[in-house]
Amino acid sequence: MEKKEKLYEGKAKIIYATDNPEQVIAYYKDDATAFDAIKKATIKGKGELNNTIASFFFKLLNEKGIPTHFIKQLSNREMLIQKVEIIPVEVVVRNIAAGSIVRRLGIPEKTKFEPPLVEFYLKNDELHDPILCEQHIYAMNLATPEEVATMKELALKVNEILKEFMEKQGIILVDFKLEFGRKDGKVILADEISPDTCRFWDAKTGESLDKDRFRFDLGDLIEGYKKILEKIEKQEG
Ligand code: TMP
Ligand code: ASP
Repeated sequence: MEKKEKLYEGKAKIIYATDNPEQVIAYYKDDATAFDAIKKATIKGKGELNNTIASFFFKLLNEKGIPTHFIKQLSNREMLIQKVEIIPVEVVVRNIAAGSIVRRLGIPEKTKFEPPLVEFYLKNDELHDPILCEQHIYAMNLATPEEVATMKELALKVNEILKEFMEKQGIILVDFKLEFGRKDGKVILADEISPDTCRFWDAKTGESLDKDRFRFDLGDLIEGYKKILEKIEKQEG
């Protein structure tokens, strides 16, 4: 597997071409951003933790029958993935009220959502990733009704798998964001699943073990991410 030219650089990852046109390498950086990159930092070791945690989650989901772009972890910071066309819609699943839904709708923090909520956001930093309703998605030709139905169904399945898995480790899966891609006419799970893109609370202490540590200065980010990795690895072995 030869690593070739850089194809794309995002806030937290770089995508490289390989000698196989169907496959690319995702390189996880140490950069952290919040609030549309108003807050920025480089946090040594974040990339390795996120790559390892995301590789674990993708492998788990693949085994449970969720189609994902993940092929294998290549190194501490790199994973081999299927090349997809990213659908510019961020899909957020919420089990418990936290973050933007508390600010936007005034729903008290920690309110339980049963069934979980599925929301769509436009992937566009300049517009600050505004929330979308389904009709906006069709009016803007972002995805077809079939694709939206698949994204919703897969997002809820991912929620069930990860929520149950994390519960066993004493971690509450509060909410998370997914991105999907098109591959050979099918919609598959893409991007990353890590403490950068999920809210994880310690079930006993309520401590945030995710990027809220950086967003709101709640404590050392690496310490929280390491706790997540340690719990996952314990389960593995
Ligand atoms: P929110 O409460 O800020 O809307 O975030 C919901 C979930 O989505 C939370 O787990 C963090 C994740 N998220 C991202 O992965 N990227 C983003 O740009 C934002 C705003 C949230
Ligand atoms: N990743 C987003 C940004 O940079 C926001 C976030 O995760 O809070 O700005």
